[in-house]
Amino acid sequence: MTARLSLAVLVSGRGSNLRAIHAAIERGQCQAEIACVISDRPEAQALEFARERGIATHTVSPKEFPDRTSWDLALAERVAQSRPGLVVLAGFMRLLGAGMLARFPGRIVNVHPALLPAFPGKDGPAQAVAAKVCLSGCTVHVVDAGVDTGPILAQAAVPVLPSDDAAALHARIQVAEHRLLPSVVHGIARGHYELGPTPRYVGPSAPDSGPPFYAWPPLED
Ligand code: GRF
Repeated sequence: MTARLSLAVLVSGRGSNLRAIHAAIERGQCQAEIACVISDRPEAQALEFARERGIATHTVSPKEFPDRTSWDLALAERVAQSRPGLVVLAGFMRLLGAGMLARFPGRIVNVHPALLPAFPGKDGPAQAVAAKVCLSGCTVHVVDAGVDTGPILAQAAVPVLPSDDAAALHARIQVAEHRLLPSVVHGIARGHYELGPTPRYVGPSAPDSGPPFYAWPPLED
């Protein structure tokens, strides 16, 4: 049997991306296994989803530590105990510190609801609506010390419709996230990404079909 990429998935909220990874694994479309789900918030819905499926869960709450550094080191220790091949931030709403980054160098990925480097940080969809862009989307990137500044691995674009508010756009972006994130995890498992000092895609090229771009509004013929 082919070895599976072991994942530690870090979550703070609803966990729809965790569900998407889990579903892709169940469908045989993601050559990974979820070793544990870890949250900074004991009440995160994502933890409940994991528990119901018999996945190990842990909470490492900043409230239990005197400062950010000791919380970050404890988180790194907790994550390391599951010996993951990859750490996935799936809606983890806290900045990681030097302890986590040093423990898993280049092996932490995040999904962000915007086409980085545009609209990093909080409320990517609201920023896109306010800027009146026509396209937005999601980005999977390697995590570095900055806020959504790490090397980009993959992106998917969606239209921003004139009627969109931030919630409507975020819902559309999440549909894209739920395909992109499991697909990137699968790609990493299959060796289609190099996660070294200059992370990049080294997998097969896309078949040459259709226009090599996506436009919104649609092009007039
Ligand atoms: C996602 O939109 C992700 O891009 C952002 O946080 C959200 C988490 O959603 N980082 P969920 O908890 O996976 O539903």
